[in-house]
Amino acid sequence: MEIILTEVTKEYGNFQALSNITMHIPGGMFGLLGPNGAGKTTLMRILATLLVPTRGKVEIGGLDALRQGAYIRQRLGYLPQEFGFYPSLKAFELLEYIAILKNVSKSQRKSQVETVLAEVNLLDQAHRKVGTFSGGMRQRLGIAQALLGNPELLIVDEPTAGLDPEERIRFRNLLARLSKKSTVLLSTHIVADVELCDSLVVLERGRLVFSGSPVELAARASHIVWQVKVPVEQWPEVERRYTVLATQIADGTVQARLLASDPPQADAQPLAPRLEDGYMAVIQNHQKQREESHA
Ligand SMILES: Nc1ncnc2c1ncn2[C@@H]1O[C@H](COP(=O)(O)OP(=O)(O)OP(=O)(O)O)[C@@H](O)[C@H]1O
Ligand SMILES: [Mg+2]
Repeated sequence: MEIILTEVTKEYGNFQALSNITMHIPGGMFGLLGPNGAGKTTLMRILATLLVPTRGKVEIGGLDALRQGAYIRQRLGYLPQEFGFYPSLKAFELLEYIAILKNVSKSQRKSQVETVLAEVNLLDQAHRKVGTFSGGMRQRLGIAQALLGNPELLIVDEPTAGLDPEERIRFRNLLARLSKKSTVLLSTHIVADVELCDSLVVLERGRLVFSGSPVELAARASHIVWQVKVPVEQWPEVERRYTVLATQIADGTVQARLLASDPPQADAQPLAPRLEDGYMAVIQNHQKQREESHA
């Protein structure tokens, strides 16, 4: 399902949470990456037609989000950042209840609930109370409820928060699999979560600072990623001067991965950029530009 945003701005009072966002979501798996407060939830709520932008146009599957919201809502599934459960309900009961709210017909209800439970691998937990679920199981149940009604668009807001590394990877794979059938929109502040996305945007303080593929994001750090080795005594100076991405300390020496436009030392080794490097480069660039424009 294609989504087009044109010059979308959202103001809360006189604070701009989103500033003039123009972007195109072609379909597949799409990532919304950015630090806390970047505007991800605000943007997702606008796309879920739960929030009206102050200015700008939002088209979802060829429909106007402002005027045809009710129709669009029938075609989308949404997992909010804070998803409340009824802890004493069993998984099956909870999903049946949500299916009723989503107008899934009575004849289809039971089979649909079973289908979505199977999709997120929770069928064997169907008759367990959701209050006893682990964090990962809850997130999967959250996806299951969003899948009721066979949505063409699935919007999931920070679904991997609080998951352990193994669950996180399993969850990413689940979303990638779902994106073969529906458009999946995923927000996160964890760079690795967008590795499987077909395309993504980076938001920073309400502004769109990158739009492209994961490979293109990594390429934003081409020729500026270095590995250096410095004695521990000299480390504070290096840390002050450069954006440091990772460090390892052994035998009085700090080995670091850092961003620098020129070789930081004569013996610095150039490294191939990774996704996190590109993300840091984009965010840093934007912060620098902002500081300069305020100076
Ligand atoms: N209802 C509101 N009233 C006033 N300000 C708000 C409101 N909702 C959000 N904001 C502000 O808008 C900005 C963007 O918030 P938003 O929740 O969209 O960010 P986010 O990228 O989802 O952050 P996080 O990663 O913490 O979930 C923040 O500065 C936030 O304080
Ligand atoms: Mg948020």
